[in-house]
Amino acid sequence: KITSLTALQVLDSRGNPTVEADLTLEGGATGRALVPAGASTGEKEAVELRDNDPMRYGGKGVLHAVVNVEGEIAKALLGQDLADQADLDHRLIALDGTPNKSRLGANAILAVSMAYARALAAANGKPLYRQLTDQTSYVLPVPCLNVLNGGRHADNNVDFQEFMIASHNAPSFSESIRMSVETFHALKALLKQKGYYTGVGDEGGFAPNLKSNEEAVELLLEAIGHAGFRPGHDISLCLDPAASELYEAGEAGQPGRYRLFKSTGQCYTSEQFNELWVSWVNQYPIVLLEDGMGENDWPGWQLHTKSLGSKIELVGDDIFCTNPAILQAGIDQHIANSVLIKLNQIGTVTETLDTVHLAQRNHYNQFVSHRSGETEDTFVADLTVAIGAGHLKTGSGSRSERIAKFNQLLRIERELGSAGHFAGIKAFKNQ
Ligand code: PGA
Ligand code: ZN
Repeated sequence: KITSLTALQVLDSRGNPTVEADLTLEGGATGRALVPAGASTGEKEAVELRDNDPMRYGGKGVLHAVVNVEGEIAKALLGQDLADQADLDHRLIALDGTPNKSRLGANAILAVSMAYARALAAANGKPLYRQLTDQTSYVLPVPCLNVLNGGRHADNNVDFQEFMIASHNAPSFSESIRMSVETFHALKALLKQKGYYTGVGDEGGFAPNLKSNEEAVELLLEAIGHAGFRPGHDISLCLDPAASELYEAGEAGQPGRYRLFKSTGQCYTSEQFNELWVSWVNQYPIVLLEDGMGENDWPGWQLHTKSLGSKIELVGDDIFCTNPAILQAGIDQHIANSVLIKLNQIGTVTETLDTVHLAQRNHYNQFVSHRSGETEDTFVADLTVAIGAGHLKTGSGSRSERIAKFNQLLRIERELGSAGHFAGIKAFKNQ
């Protein structure tokens, strides 16, 4: 039974309002959760309720979502006999009554769902990952550090959103983090040496203006070498170009185009854009490519999966939106071989786990992710370990809202001791 439920408008890492929920169970166990927010969001994501009052926070306030938690949601839940997480989440979904959580807000609903998971963990005296799935041993993930930011996450001329390094040839999570952060520092020194800007973007990676998108990859490879590691052997690359942001739908039945609007303005057909990725994969040690094609270009995604789906991991983010129904359609149409997992794209812990289980049954990998607007909440660290996803992306070597997740994983690693196993290169599909 829930005995108290409150919410508060707090701030995310971009200084935008977000929802925090605090929940107490009968017996006194408590749970707190904060929800993150994306910038390059998928069109079919659950709806984040914003106040749209231009006089406050540029319309981004979440006071209505807070009122929904403390009003309607609290009224429906307080004192009720709740069987488990799924029971709570199904009640929240039914109470909202819309397919995309637009009435009460996915931000209101998810805050309650996550806070409940934490309170259950506290009541059972378990760490959160064990509350989510109780196992005798766990997999610790390869952290994919987004060390160079572009696209919507940075005010530079780089078109592609995320250039990540994955230190997979390590004996442990903590050694992998060390290798990655040493490379992050080597990259900073390299950028300085070349006279490039070393300020960081939304996810804590550097955001320099570059001569080309290819130069971003070449700088990463050089930095890996400078840090004393072998590209491809010790540390490989993962990319999220967030292609939905580059895609322009065609008019009146015409095919759409991909446009590099931040740099050259060059346009690509779907086939040409896929060829670009094929040539990058042939040229560079890339083991994972997320959103290489746009969410509204399913034929392009099919072609892309045919070309690269048996070579590397292809992750669907915007196209699947952590939604089990959409993922099922993607599986049926042979799109991607991995799904990005973002709790707030779907809006409850239970539906997130439904998507994970659907992926597992169909041999799709799961890549767990933060959002570009984050908080100090570290739920995704525990979730990654709980589901055995083997890899996650949660920022770079700077900005404490990102580092908080790595620090939580370091704690989990120590706590698990010999019951925790580092995933290594096997975490990536086809490796
Ligand atoms: P977002 O971007 O959090 O801004 O949506 C992250 C991603 O595209 O993976
Ligand atoms: Zn993405």
